[in-house]
Amino acid sequence: PPLDSLLNLDDIEAAATAQISKKCWAYYFSASDDLLSKSLNNAAFRAILLRPRVFVDVTRVSTATTLLGGSHPVSTPLYVSPAAMARLAHPDGEAGIARGISRFGALQLVSHNASMSPEQIVADASPGQIFGWQLYVQNDRAKSEAMLARVVAMKNRYKCIVLTLDAPVPSKREHDERAGMEARLALERASGGGRPDSNSGVGQQLFFGTAADLTWQDTLPWLEKHAGGLPIVIKGIQTHEDAFLAARWARTHPGTIKAIILSNHGGRSLDTSPPAVHTLLEIRKYCPEVFGAVEVWVDGGVKRGTDVVKALCLGARMVGVGRAALGVERTFEILQAEIETCMKMLGARDISELGPRFINTRAVERD
Ligand code: FNR
Repeated sequence: PPLDSLLNLDDIEAAATAQISKKCWAYYFSASDDLLSKSLNNAAFRAILLRPRVFVDVTRVSTATTLLGGSHPVSTPLYVSPAAMARLAHPDGEAGIARGISRFGALQLVSHNASMSPEQIVADASPGQIFGWQLYVQNDRAKSEAMLARVVAMKNRYKCIVLTLDAPVPSKREHDERAGMEARLALERASGGGRPDSNSGVGQQLFFGTAADLTWQDTLPWLEKHAGGLPIVIKGIQTHEDAFLAARWARTHPGTIKAIILSNHGGRSLDTSPPAVHTLLEIRKYCPEVFGAVEVWVDGGVKRGTDVVKALCLGARMVGVGRAALGVERTFEILQAEIETCMKMLGARDISELGPRFINTRAVERD
């Protein structure tokens, strides 16, 4: 369909589903176990109500903000979450996403399991565009150190290292496993049987070699040593306790952890783990000082500009989209327009004006 006939992120998902292979669908749009966290992620945003104010001159609004301690201006709080294997969906892969969103001045986080090298992805990105690189620490630490050195050498493009912590072991993604099984059976049929191909889905295969033994005490000092001074963002924080520990680490080790990402991996890791909205509310209740010590970024289930604005009102600084980033430019166009409309309707002219006074969270706090 023509791009301008896609009016919202559900339209984009439907168009993508019609175009990509079954295997790609099973990998991209599925989640773990019963997909409960995946659907809760969006439901939690929906349960928050907005509180618009009147008599505010909203002829102009700005969505510009800064990240990583004010050092990087961006024109939108929206960013691309790191998602593996963009080439499964389109031959232009992660570089295509970079080109598509270039006019939005947005941050793009590149997955450890991207389908292109970190060098290729930034090669023809527009000059002002900024990236971050996401790390899954490998059992063979030397491999991770070599990758970090390559990214650090491109410090002019890569502005942070994102350490993902919410997937110490592979999860059960049954759509993905079934698609893997079907592919293997098809291969067996074609070759007369007996091929030793893996029975697993894409997720399981990508996981091979990932370390499960990470700790605050061992992993962070090691990463600091190899991050070449780049700020560290830790991704997959799901409780106020861990947010507190991250904030304490940031205070006692200045210049290291600059941001935490509240995320349940788009519902793809531990099913029934909490949506970012719930974790934001926990942090607000038990340790609000976290917001002063580290930037709090969130992802998971963002479908509307109102979702983005609600997260910002709860204290998030940046909001990521994972699956929807496959809609590239159109996704950003839609969400950006929706964010601006939402801010105008609310009576908020600037991102810095957004706060809890614009939302009613009673329905989410009850559950
Ligand atoms: C992911 N995600 C992810 N996260 C990460 O840290 N490293 C990775 O390699 C991947 N890979 C990945 C692949 C695919 C296909 C998806 C959909 C997701 C998780 C991602 O960064 C993000 O947390 C979620 O996608 C956010 O949820 P939504 O926006 O997809 O609902």
